[in-house]
Amino acid sequence: MRVVFLGPPGAGKGTQAKVIAEAAGMAHISTGDILREAVARETDLGKKAKAFMESGGLVPDDLVVAMVAERLSRGDCAKGFILDGFPRTVPQAEALSGTLSGMKASLDAVVYFKVDDEQVVERLSGRRMCRKCNANYHVAFMPPKKAGVCDKCGGELYQRDDDKPETIRRRLKVYYDQTADLIRYYRERGLLREVDASASPEAVLGGVKRALGLAK
Ligand code: AP5
Repeated sequence: MRVVFLGPPGAGKGTQAKVIAEAAGMAHISTGDILREAVARETDLGKKAKAFMESGGLVPDDLVVAMVAERLSRGDCAKGFILDGFPRTVPQAEALSGTLSGMKASLDAVVYFKVDDEQVVERLSGRRMCRKCNANYHVAFMPPKKAGVCDKCGGELYQRDDDKPETIRRRLKVYYDQTADLIRYYRERGLLREVDASASPEAVLGGVKRALGLAK
């Protein structure tokens, strides 16, 4: 199955993508994770992307499109994939369609995570990530057993630079200005499946599975 997870920052796309991809043996492709790794390693891509990410803006389409096309060509995508955080603009969606056509493939579904701005701010300001394994927590909603320490690998938990209040506001604005058009784009193509992402993580997981036909 080839799927896109779409929705505002902090809607829970990454949280659910990790669980579903692991259970279904699909590749989880998070453009945010790939870009953060490139920034940390100071690669050419990372150097170009850094300032856009720090300000809460989008990295230019050509850079992200090339990065995703390369990632989709790898063997682990043969059994299917979840694209988490891509596409973010209509030109990215059109480029994805072209890349998949070249692979004689197409998308099966686009899951739209619906959640309001207040919850976005609450979720992002409490998010903590593991420096070692990238696991994600929330200080109130999904707390680690020991504050500041990853349950899975013992790594140090940190707050993403773009999870500061002023950057969260900017990311939301960018979402409404540039990404929200994608909802109409995919609805018109009959691919959009809406999920109420405001519920608990377990309830959202059930909704996503039903939307993908993985549960009744
Ligand atoms: P990216 O990393 O993709 O950030 P994002 O889309 O803003 O998404 P987030 O990771 O913030 O949120 P999420 O929906 O995955 O939520 P999560 O599951 O973590 O992108 C970062 C930057 O990279 C962009 O700003 C841009 O600069 C660049 N970039 C990336 N892709 C790009 C592209 N295609 N084009 C151009 N630039 C690009 O959950 C959030 C928190 O809530 C966590 O703490 C979690 O524990 C908690 N939580 C999750 N679900 C629930 C729930 N149901 N109830 C309560 N808490 C919950």
